[in-house]
Amino acid sequence: MRLVACMLSFFILSGPAECGNILIWPTEGSHWINLKIVLETLMDRGHSVTVLVPDSKMFMSVEESDLFSQMHFNMSISSEEMHAFLEEMLHFSMYEVDKLNLLQIVSKFYQLASKNLALGLSYCDGILKSPGLIDRLRRGKFDVVLSDPIFPCSDIMAEQLNVPLVFTFRFSIGHAAERMCAQIPAPPSYVPGAMSKLTDNMTFTERIANMIFYLSQDAFAKILWRTFDNYYTEYLGRPTSFCEMLGKADIWLIRTYWDFEYPRPFLPNFKYVGGLHCTPAKQLPKDMEEFVQSSGDDGIVVFSLGSMVKNMTKEKSNMIASALAQIPQKVLWRYVGEKPDTLGPNTRIYDWIPQNDLLGHPKTRAFITHGGTNGIYEAIYHGVPMVGIPLFGDQPDNMAHMIAKGAAVVMDYYTMNTQDLLDGLNTVMTDPSYKEKSAHLSRVHHDRPVKPLDEAVFWIEFVMRNKGAKHLQVEAHNLTWYQYHCLDVFTFLITIMTVITYILFKTCKCIIMRCCLRSMTKSKKE
Ligand SMILES: *[C@@H]1O[C@H](CO)[C@@H](O)[C@H](O)[C@H]1NC(C)=O
Ligand SMILES: *[C@@H]1O[C@H](CO)[C@@H](O)[C@H](O)[C@H]1NC(C)=O
Ligand SMILES: *[C@@H]1O[C@H](CO)[C@@H](O)[C@H](O)[C@H]1NC(C)=O
Repeated sequence: MRLVACMLSFFILSGPAECGNILIWPTEGSHWINLKIVLETLMDRGHSVTVLVPDSKMFMSVEESDLFSQMHFNMSISSEEMHAFLEEMLHFSMYEVDKLNLLQIVSKFYQLASKNLALGLSYCDGILKSPGLIDRLRRGKFDVVLSDPIFPCSDIMAEQLNVPLVFTFRFSIGHAAERMCAQIPAPPSYVPGAMSKLTDNMTFTERIANMIFYLSQDAFAKILWRTFDNYYTEYLGRPTSFCEMLGKADIWLIRTYWDFEYPRPFLPNFKYVGGLHCTPAKQLPKDMEEFVQSSGDDGIVVFSLGSMVKNMTKEKSNMIASALAQIPQKVLWRYVGEKPDTLGPNTRIYDWIPQNDLLGHPKTRAFITHGGTNGIYEAIYHGVPMVGIPLFGDQPDNMAHMIAKGAAVVMDYYTMNTQDLLDGLNTVMTDPSYKEKSAHLSRVHHDRPVKPLDEAVFWIEFVMRNKGAKHLQVEAHNLTWYQYHCLDVFTFLITIMTVITYILFKTCKCIIMRCCLRSMTKSKKE
């Protein structure tokens, strides 16, 4: 089958399509959902895809029917421990964070981040410290390693197998990895740090805040990465930093685009492929379509807080339900918790909704979202204005982008009441500017030379054909910090200027003295 697909793509495409062997480093959560779409496309084009599958996982479902080759490995952490960690993180974000002081929050955050590091390293151990697996990987003759740099060690694997490396992700906290390791320029005066909730138009105080944010995130990253540095140094047997290994990646596929990002400088090996998972809406299930049609001219509101949030307090769900009951639209709410008592007749609860198909439905008027990147991209793709109820992680910052673009309003999950939610919904649905801005974002999203999925696939194939993309690597990787900022050059130039000024000054002084002397003797004689 694969050979036939390969032959077909050879004849259909103008350029020679070489079919390669692609190795996928394990990844989790929404990261895996995005990656899977790219993998399926690569398979359709005749490539062979091998996924490293851990025995412990949460969302990384790889079915036997998936057609990927699979290489299994064992982890020191169990699936239960992973779920417990996720629960802890969710519980912290949804029930604890509003009750703690800043010091407690930072300490808890550090504790969670350390656990996350340990989780990352247990993938490393499971793969790199299994000699049998490494042997099989070496014999696998791979052409590229594809991974999400949120999970460490894929760069070690790529180096050991001597194959190029492609990263695909959304961002690292404060863009620390992109800036410090990949060398992407980020002037703090107009590039807000990721998760800072700032925009590119900053006041003086905001620029101070942004600078402090960058500096603190860099320090935080350096402290956390020390664990990785030690692991890398020990494994490779030479002093190695995590950052320098990240910097060796050939291509970075970033899962956003200029519909979402603020304009900023980037590098030739950074490709922006946000929205690659979006597709035109498909037919809804029959009963759902009937419910949607019953909304008449008022249309519908789609509501989902993502796949991770399973439950909320009874009073919260009642508060939300009573706001939804007061709007003329029909509401489709994805929620698996207990049914709220105040649920109106216009609201239906579902365990699961075909979110993309609903957002693409002509009757959809608004989307209530937690602000995950995938959901936001579906809303951008279909041009639907949003009401954000961000909870944790990148969600508040994502929603800040959408507010700045004029396509959303945002609620505070902890303090909002029925009236706030009602006002928010009415604002995005009655003020035409939200619909216009959303439609504009959608046009900008679609109007590009290559579709994001095709672009991602192109660059992965490019790296396979050309054995890497080192010609896109900036020389900044080989400079010291003072060379990068031209401090040595400035020092040199300032020294020269000082010397010249000094000599000029001395010469002038001398000339003036002589003149003065001469005129004084002259006047004396007279
Ligand atoms: C994983 O562990 C199981 C039993 O604990 C063992 O049978 C299996 O061979 C291990 N797999 C690998 C890839 O080491
Ligand atoms: C930037 O923000 C200032 C005030 O915060 C505003 O006056 C100005 O119009 C904004 N500029 C742009 C281009 O939006
Ligand atoms: C949701 O949480 C409540 C307590 O906060 C609990 O009683 C209920 O069983 C939970 N429901 C689900 C579906 O997890």
